[in-house]
Amino acid sequence: MTASVQSAPAQPMEHAIYRSLAGKRVVITGGGTGIGAALVRAFAGQGAQVFFLDIADAASRELEAALKDAPLPPTFLHCDLLDLDALAESFAHIGKIAGAVDILINNAANDDRHKMEDVSPAYWDERMAVNLRHQYFCAQAVTPGMRETGRGVILNFGSISWHLALPNLTLYMTAKAAIEGLTRGLARDLGVHGIRVNCIIPGAVRTPRQMRLWHSPEEEARILAAQCLDQRVEPDDVAALALFLASDSAAKCSGRDYFVDAGWYGA
Ligand SMILES: NC(=O)c1ccc[n+]([C@@H]2O[C@H](COP(=O)([O-])OP(=O)(O)OC[C@H]3O[C@@H](n4cnc5c(N)ncnc54)[C@H](O)[C@@H]3O)[C@@H](O)[C@H]2O)c1
Repeated sequence: MTASVQSAPAQPMEHAIYRSLAGKRVVITGGGTGIGAALVRAFAGQGAQVFFLDIADAASRELEAALKDAPLPPTFLHCDLLDLDALAESFAHIGKIAGAVDILINNAANDDRHKMEDVSPAYWDERMAVNLRHQYFCAQAVTPGMRETGRGVILNFGSISWHLALPNLTLYMTAKAAIEGLTRGLARDLGVHGIRVNCIIPGAVRTPRQMRLWHSPEEEARILAAQCLDQRVEPDDVAALALFLASDSAAKCSGRDYFVDAGWYGA
C-alpha cells in the first residue's frame, strides 16, 4: 500500500434523475459544507425546493450563490441547531413560505475528539445536543405537515465510527449509536402515516473538514487497506444514496440503516 493521498475527483458525480423528487420541499441540516453541501447540490439538481440550515454563514451563502440558477434555487437559513427555539422558528418560517416539508435530512453533526478525563457534564450535554437532540426535534417539527399530506421521508445520519470502535470519539459514537435507535422508533411510530424513516451510515468520507483535521497519508493508507474497495468515499457517493432513499424508488424502505462505506471493516 502506497502512502499517498488520493486527489479529489475532477468532476462531480452525475446523479440518476428521480422524477419523484422534482418539486419536493427538502430541508437539509448542516447543508453549508461537507456532505451537506453535496446533498444540497444533488437535491437542487433534481428540481427539488431545498432549504438548508447551518451556522457556517460564509460557506452557505457561497453555496446559495453558486446554485442561484438551479430550477428552484436553494435557500440558506442561519440556524444554530443547539437552540431549539431557533430550530422551531426556522421550520415555522419554511412552513409559512413553502408549506409542508416532504423530505427532512438530519445531516448536521460535529465529531470533535476528546479525552475521558476532560469530559464534564456540560460537555456531555453539548455533544448530545449537537449530534443527536436536533435530529429528534427537526423530525418533530416536520411531522404534522407530513401527516397531513400522508407521506414524507426522514433520513437520519449515523456513522460507521461506533461500529468500528474508533478512539477518542466516545460521545460522538454514543450519539451516533442512538440515532439508529431513533430511526427505528420514528419509523415504527410514523409508518402508519406514510412517513418513511431511514438511517444513512457513511464510512470515511473525504470532506474538507475530514481532510483538514484528521487525514494524513498514513491515515489514508490505513483506511484504504481496511476497505473492501480501493477508493475513497466522496460526499457525492453519500448524496447518491440519499437521493435514492428519498425518492419513490425506495417506497418500501423504512426503519433500516444503509451503509455507504466502500466496505470498511476494522479500524
Ligand atoms: N465525513 C465523514 O467521514 C463521516 C463519517 C461518518 C458519518 N458522517 C456523518 O455525516 C454527516 C455529515 O458529516 P460531514 O463530514 O459533512 O460534517 P462536516 O463537519 O463537514 O459538516 C457538518 C455541517 O453541519 C454544520 N453544523 C454543525 N453544528 C451545527 C449547529 N449547531 N447548527 C447548525 N449547523 C451545524 C456545520 O457548520 C457543517 O456545515 C454528519 O452527521 C456526520 O456525523 C460523516
